[in-house]
Amino acid sequence: MKSFTVKTAVKSEVIIEKNFSGLLGAIKKIFRGKKIVILCDDNTMLLFFSAVKDNLPSATVCPVYVNAGEKSKSVETYAKVIQDLSKYGVTRNDLLIALGGGVIGDLGGFVASTYLRGIDLIQCPTTLLSMVDSSIGGKTALNTNSGKNIIGTFYQPKLTYIALCALDFLPEREIKSGMGEIVKCALLSNEITLEDIESGRYEDLIMKCLRLKANKVEKDERDEKGERIILNLGHTFGHAMEKLSDFSISHGECVAMGILPIIDLSAAVFGLSTETVNEMKEVLYAAKINLNRSFDRAELLKRIAFDKKNDGEKINFVLLKGKGKPCVLPLTIAEVKEALKW
Ligand SMILES: NC(=O)c1ccc[n+]([C@@H]2O[C@H](COP(=O)([O-])OP(=O)(O)OC[C@H]3O[C@@H](n4cnc5c(N)ncnc54)[C@H](O)[C@@H]3O)[C@@H](O)[C@H]2O)c1
Repeated sequence: MKSFTVKTAVKSEVIIEKNFSGLLGAIKKIFRGKKIVILCDDNTMLLFFSAVKDNLPSATVCPVYVNAGEKSKSVETYAKVIQDLSKYGVTRNDLLIALGGGVIGDLGGFVASTYLRGIDLIQCPTTLLSMVDSSIGGKTALNTNSGKNIIGTFYQPKLTYIALCALDFLPEREIKSGMGEIVKCALLSNEITLEDIESGRYEDLIMKCLRLKANKVEKDERDEKGERIILNLGHTFGHAMEKLSDFSISHGECVAMGILPIIDLSAAVFGLSTETVNEMKEVLYAAKINLNRSFDRAELLKRIAFDKKNDGEKINFVLLKGKGKPCVLPLTIAEVKEALKW
């Protein structure tokens, strides 16, 4: 077992365990109500609901489930879940466990932060991406017709409980998505080495990625001071690639693919040595993600300008002066185009 505390205004515990059996003891420390809601999607309901239910303190268990997938981060699904909680008679002392990937984490976090003005939340992430990233930091979200994560709150979970056994069921596509976020963290920090990535020891990798994120979140809980911006490494190009692929390539893979032009851009802007560039690319390749899918470069830059609602102004790019040496540089699209010789 590994654990640490995210020192936000309301302290948030993180526990990494092999399976769900440690939940009982961890929940006993925080639970003072009568009912525990388990929010799942149809996959996590089938796979993990029983294991979680069997490891809860005595309480009435209230199962709530939604369809798997991004579409469930909607106002309509939110309203349905709130209605379910009301029907169960969930009160302010009760608890919600978000059991699933980032979709359930974002939806469950928003429900917990708004139902009766806030009930306790436990994040129980079951995808690699949610284990290394979305299950801490307190960002909750719903999408609207205007875009992704338009509605949301900051709400820290009382506990993030990671049962590594969940990864045994995860499809390859979702493992790769998580690996994309892991190599991002490895390029931002000297704590995560090439050997760590090649080892495939998820327990260590998850712990190190979460510590990196926790460190930034503790300094800038509400994302107002720019401390969290480096965590967006690869995301500017990555989001554009995600959209141009019509979401057929997973988020984390797009992040990893989006880091490749960032390394080239950094090399051009800072005049990095071939050795430094190769060291960073080696880390990126260690995720075993196919980075060679080709995109129309002009379309990519157009998409980035559109996403950033940019009309010639500078965009903050997270660049790398080397492994573990991120920095932020405002650049215009024209400057990026010229530096990359695109
Ligand atoms: N709040 C944050 O800080 C933050 C950060 C990053 C991403 N996000 C959000 O996270 C979401 C993406 O999360 P995701 O990649 O986990 O996707 P997801 O939640 O949609 O899960 C992917 C798929 O895997 C299935 N699944 C979950 N666990 C499984 C398991 N152990 N075995 C088999 N199948 C399993 C799910 O049912 C789903 O079909 C996006 O909405 C994104 O905006 C939030």
